[in-house]
Amino acid sequence: MHKLKVITSTNREGSKGILVADWISERARSVSKFDVELLDLARIDLPFMTEPNHPRLQQYQYEHTRRWSTTINEADAFIIVLGEYNFGFPAPIKNALDYLFHEWRHKPVGIVSYGGVSAGLRATQMLKQVLTTLSMMPLAEQVNIPFFTKYINEEGLFVPDEMLTKSADTMLAELHRWTETLKPMRAV
Ligand SMILES: Cc1cc2nc3c(=O)[nH]c(=O)nc-3n(C[C@H](O)[C@H](O)[C@H](O)COP(=O)(O)O)c2cc1C
Repeated sequence: MHKLKVITSTNREGSKGILVADWISERARSVSKFDVELLDLARIDLPFMTEPNHPRLQQYQYEHTRRWSTTINEADAFIIVLGEYNFGFPAPIKNALDYLFHEWRHKPVGIVSYGGVSAGLRATQMLKQVLTTLSMMPLAEQVNIPFFTKYINEEGLFVPDEMLTKSADTMLAELHRWTETLKPMRAV
């Protein structure tokens, strides 16, 4: 079974991104053919990029980088659960991407963005430029959640409406197609 890693983008105390990430991970487990793992950057707690060498060389000096490399290397596909800070992407996701190079290459990525009126779209557009530089394939099919706190109930659970569920399922189906397509490409 293809491995899908769902990655959060924020790590501040009380980050809400994890609630959105829990929802999309659960949805992926129930409707898709992926083996799903949730990677919460708040738990993984990578320091700001410490490696002395360019990641392309894979001469990692730190145990935290070696662990992150193994985790990302085994993935076949990703979903990034993307917040928006000051009209841009939050620093923790950029840092997590910058640590590695080959491990991301030729892998598809779906984006689930959340925010206020803009639904994290500005952050999404900025992040795509970084993703394509790493030779990742960001999907056109994405889930963009405006005023996302209105979907969080009193128990602190993210409860989607029908439109969000439909766009999640469309993205997951497309992500699976790209995963099947890109896997052989990585083998050559
Ligand atoms: C530093 C900071 C900057 C923010 N800038 C934006 C923004 O540009 N656009 C937006 O829609 N929401 C913005 N927000 C509100 C966030 O969408 C909201 O706080 C969300 O919960 C942040 O994600 P997180 O809880 O996973 O950290 C900002 C929040 C913070 C803390």
